[in-house]
Amino acid sequence: MTHFYTLAMGIFAFSSRWALTVSDVGDFAPCLHFFYRSWPLKGLAGTPMCQRYNNLYHFATLYSRQRRSPWFSAYLYTVPTGKRPTPCWKFEPQLAYPEANGNMIPFPPPPLDPNVVESQAVELDYINSTYSRGHLNPSLHHQQHEDRSSTFTLTNVVPQKAGSNEGPWEKLEQTVNKTLEAYCLGKAYIVTGIIPYQKDERWLKNHRVAVPEYIWSAYCCPNFNNSLPKELQNAFPTYAAIGRNDPNSTEEIVPVCKTAKKQFMGYDVRKMSLATLEMYLKNRFNTVVSVFYEQCSGSQ
Ligand SMILES: *[C@@H]1O[C@H](CO)[C@@H](O)[C@H](O)[C@H]1NC(C)=O
Ligand SMILES: *[C@@H]1O[C@H](CO)[C@@H](O)[C@H](O)[C@H]1NC(C)=O
Ligand SMILES: *[C@@H]1O[C@H](CO)[C@@H](O)[C@H](O)[C@H]1NC(C)=O
Ligand SMILES: *[C@@H]1O[C@H](CO)[C@@H](O)[C@H](O)[C@H]1NC(C)=O
Repeated sequence: MTHFYTLAMGIFAFSSRWALTVSDVGDFAPCLHFFYRSWPLKGLAGTPMCQRYNNLYHFATLYSRQRRSPWFSAYLYTVPTGKRPTPCWKFEPQLAYPEANGNMIPFPPPPLDPNVVESQAVELDYINSTYSRGHLNPSLHHQQHEDRSSTFTLTNVVPQKAGSNEGPWEKLEQTVNKTLEAYCLGKAYIVTGIIPYQKDERWLKNHRVAVPEYIWSAYCCPNFNNSLPKELQNAFPTYAAIGRNDPNSTEEIVPVCKTAKKQFMGYDVRKMSLATLEMYLKNRFNTVVSVFYEQCSGSQ
C-alpha cells in the first residue's frame, strides 16, 4: 500500500501544478452567487472549488489538498422538503485531472484510479475509521433533489465523530432550518467550516485525511421578519456556532454540559455572535477571518 501511494504521489506532484488553471478548481468566479454580495470568505487559503453536479453549480468549497478535506463550504439555504436521498458518494475527477470537465461523479467500483486516490479522500478512508462522514453543506438544508445529492461528495465532508454528527451538531442544523424557514424573508447564505487542532494534527487511520477539532457555522439573512420572538432577538441578520468534535478538547471555546446523554457528552455546540466566531477563528488561524461582507450588516 505504501509503495502504491508513493508512486501515485510522484504522478500527482506533476499534475497538481496544472490544476490551478482550470475554471472549476482554483477560482470561485463561476459560483460567486453562493456568497453574500459575491464576496467569498476572506482569510483562509486553499483550493477554491465550484461544486458542479450534472452541469449545474450547487455550492462552493474551499478545499485543502494537503488535508484532503474542506476548510469550508458555502451555500444558499432553501426550505427542505421530502426525504434525505440515499447516499451516493461522489468524487471530483478534476482534482486529479485538470482537463476533466468539472462535474463530480459517483465512485466507480474498485479498484480506483491511483491519481484519484492520491488527490482526494475516498470511501475507504472513512470505512472502519472511528469517524463518520460529516457534511459541511448538509443535505437537510436544500429543497431540490439535485442540490441534496450534490452534498454527497467527499470534498464537502470532514471526519466527524458520531456523537457530534448525530447529536448536538444535527440539532443545530435543525434549529437553523426552523429559524430561517420561519423568519428569513429573502436569501439565507450559510458558510460552514472547520477549526484545525492547534498542534498535533489528528488524521484518519491511513494518515491521509485530517480530522478537525471543531466545526463552525454561520448564516447571513439580510432580509428578515422584524417581529422576532424574544429568544431570536440576536439571531438576525447573522448568527453563528462552534461545535466540539473531540470530547478531550479544553473548554475555553465550547464548555461541556456534564448532564448530556452519554453518547453526546463532550460534543456540545455553542451558539454565538458572528463577531465571537471570528475572534476564535482569528486566534486559531493567526489571521483576520471575515466570513461575510461587512459582517452581513444588511443595508439591503
Ligand atoms: C471493516 O471491519 C470489518 C470488521 O472488522 C471487516 O470485516 C471489514 O472487512 C472491514 N472493511 C474494510 C473495507 O476494511
Ligand atoms: C426543516 O424545516 C421545515 C419547515 O419548517 C420542516 O418541515 C422540516 O421538518 C424541517 N426539517 C428538519 C429536519 O428539521
Ligand atoms: C412576521 O412574523 C409575525 C409573527 O410571527 C407574523 O405574524 C407575520 O406574518 C410575519 N410577517 C411576514 C412578512 O412573514
Ligand atoms: C480522549 O482521551 C482518552 C484518554 O487519553 C482516550 O482514551 C480517548 O481515545 C480520547 N478520545 C478521543 C476522541 O480522542
